Amino acid sequence: MHGEIQEIGKEFYLLRSDEKDFHRNIYIKRFVGPNGDSLNMIMDPGTPLDYPSLSKALKELIGGVKNIHIVFLSHQDPDVSSNIGAILASAPKALVFTSIDTWRLVKMYGIPEKRFKPIESFKKDLLKVKRTGHWIQFVPARYCHFRGAMMIYDHESRILFSGDFMAGVNTRKGPGIYANEESWEGISLFHQIYMPSKRAIQMTVDRINMLNPTPKVIAPQHGDIVKGQLLEDFLQRLASLDVGLDTEENIEAEKENLYVALSSFLEMLKLTYPDVHSSLMELLTSAGEFTTAFKIVGGSVMEIKLLPKTAINHFWKALKKASSPDLHEELGGLFANSLKSFGIEPPEETLPEGPEEEDTKDLTSELVDLDKLFG
Ligand SMILES: [Fe+2]
Ligand SMILES: [Fe+2]
Repeated sequence: MHGEIQEIGKEFYLLRSDEKDFHRNIYIKRFVGPNGDSLNMIMDPGTPLDYPSLSKALKELIGGVKNIHIVFLSHQDPDVSSNIGAILASAPKALVFTSIDTWRLVKMYGIPEKRFKPIESFKKDLLKVKRTGHWIQFVPARYCHFRGAMMIYDHESRILFSGDFMAGVNTRKGPGIYANEESWEGISLFHQIYMPSKRAIQMTVDRINMLNPTPKVIAPQHGDIVKGQLLEDFLQRLASLDVGLDTEENIEAEKENLYVALSSFLEMLKLTYPDVHSSLMELLTSAGEFTTAFKIVGGSVMEIKLLPKTAINHFWKALKKASSPDLHEELGGLFANSLKSFGIEPPEETLPEGPEEEDTKDLTSELVDLDKLFG
């Protein structure tokens, strides 16, 4: 169920699960010293489903599970850590390196305290592997997506193992393990669902940007390996992506604004086109395809159960249905102006064709209003 083990940097190996939509990536790093001494670290060893192919791969690579010295856990999710009991049972020398917050949960697998080395207990985040002379660095990924989430940076290969950060569901077509532009969609989707807020992502991006030397490769626990220019691009895009709470809050604010805009349009319509208004109200509130979309109380829109853009289109369709075709252009203009005055983009169809026409139209409707006032 796993493909071949692949070296993605110096003595840094990837074993990837075969699912088409959502891969689990397990990584193994061999630190090999000048006199041949070595130390083996596995990162996010996966699930019992991975165990058979993992133990086979480890046999080839380091002579078996028993030769694992360090198990690094980015956090405690089952896709990351549910293998841990089996690994520690077969690797008697292995210690688990993870944050205290992760350990508090992972020890529920029945792992004794003495098998654990809290990352917080090291004096510095940059550590020298005494036996081989290599440098490794712990990099917090706070709230990405767990408070105690950690990444680890191997200075030799300049690969940053990033856990769920920069992970993605698979949207790239074709074989291979490296990201291209098609991978972004899956990364963005994964972060929108699993990351709590843009602020958390920005803090992690800042930490990565501060690394010295800068990483050449980001190796996440799901999806594609990111390197080269895309690494910089994706970090930048992630820092400005609305995720988790951001999307909900922003949509709430957008919806509140739309309620007010639609309510004030309805009020205006009631004064200028009372007949259209009453048929529209009937359409919006009676049983039919829009029944559940709008909740209107006392003439005001109180709730919309659709994304704002979809709701606007539904509203415009209902307005057309409620009026005769010769009024559509006039009503479309009024509807568009009404939305625009609240900073909302109107449906394409209601917009005049060129900017000149728009100016004339605005002027005309002002004149009409004046006529009404003085006529
Ligand atoms: Fe996770
Ligand atoms: Fe994960």
